[in-house]
Amino acid sequence: MKFKFLTLDDVSLANKRVLVRVDINSPIANNSTILETTRIKSILPTLEALKNSKTVLLAHQSRPGKKDFTSLEVHASVLKNLVDRPVKFIDDIFGTAARNAIKELKNGEILVLENVRFYSEEVAEDIPPENQAQTIMVKKLTPLFDLFVNDAFAAAHRAQPSLIGFTYTLPTVAGKVMEKELTVLNKIFDPERPAVFIIGGAKVDTKLEIVKNILKNGKADKILLGGLLVNVFLEAKGYKIGEINKGCIKKFDSYISEAKNILKEDGDKIELPDDVAIEKDGKRYEVSCNELQGENRILDIGLDTIVKYSNIIVNSKTVVANGPLGLFEREDFALGTREILDAMTKCRHFTVVGGGELGGYAEILGVSGKIKHLSTGGGATLALLSGEKLPVIKALEESAKKFKGRIVN
Ligand code: 3PG
Repeated sequence: MKFKFLTLDDVSLANKRVLVRVDINSPIANNSTILETTRIKSILPTLEALKNSKTVLLAHQSRPGKKDFTSLEVHASVLKNLVDRPVKFIDDIFGTAARNAIKELKNGEILVLENVRFYSEEVAEDIPPENQAQTIMVKKLTPLFDLFVNDAFAAAHRAQPSLIGFTYTLPTVAGKVMEKELTVLNKIFDPERPAVFIIGGAKVDTKLEIVKNILKNGKADKILLGGLLVNVFLEAKGYKIGEINKGCIKKFDSYISEAKNILKEDGDKIELPDDVAIEKDGKRYEVSCNELQGENRILDIGLDTIVKYSNIIVNSKTVVANGPLGLFEREDFALGTREILDAMTKCRHFTVVGGGELGGYAEILGVSGKIKHLSTGGGATLALLSGEKLPVIKALEESAKKFKGRIVN
């Protein structure tokens, strides 16, 4: 596949000082145990290509305000056990300590910097993409490197300084994860029909945008909803979900009018649960959406919905899934997610599972081998397949034009 950006194969890497943005954002327990290491393992081919370089890893874990917003020290420990080279960690991003550690690196060594989202400009929402290069982190780190490698495919839908900024200041190439994901996913850019997207998980803001994009670009025949989007759409349709199910979604009210518009314009493409599983006295109960009283938490899709969704999945030619359908961490509410993954294994056509959570769960269930492509990206994979031009890919292409002829060799 010929890209409009450069890859690791286009540059000489030995003895170079290389800054690599990776996405190793992982499910983590008690901020100390990584529960699922797929994303960390995915960067090994890129690290192998950099075995004779001085390699510095820049990455994030979760977002401010979340329980799992924590240090990358634990990720560095996991990495230490996966590579046969020195892996160091420093609890700094671009201060004197980090800069000195970077300067002292030797060929073959890897240094993991602290969670880049500890730095407030990284998560500021009002920095236009072209100004990301003016942020203090980009200014401080740029002089220490010869090359920037963007391998954070799973965050390619975010326009943040660590993802976009360096592509304006340093020659930039895509890493192996980025290359592999785009090679596979570009093949289904024009999906074989019928095409179905299954959208679950908890990030309502991101997912709602993606639903709109999929519909705008005509990428899907059906969108099956799970996770917290169900609460938004059930309310928009007039079901009684109650305060208990609205309260768990920030900015709930502002999503309702968007959901109503989507249902008005493209209601025939949106599949909502007919029944759900609620939690009552700590147990799972099935209830038809018509009978919802709004007193209990909705934690999964119901049995009839599982059957309805599974039929659509097995009869589709392209199936893309992202995000769990329910609270799969609890055995009794994992049923929807498990059965939907099972239906995907029975679909004989192109199936993609995106995202750490759902991909990790497919691994745990032992069904990942039966899914055609297990993508490291969640929101990024959906955004790409929904027809969006991802900011990171745009930046990679810009950089290739800008640094053409000056690329390190
Ligand atoms: C992900 O897990 O989808 C990526 O790491 C991006 O994370 P974000 O949605 O918090 O930006």
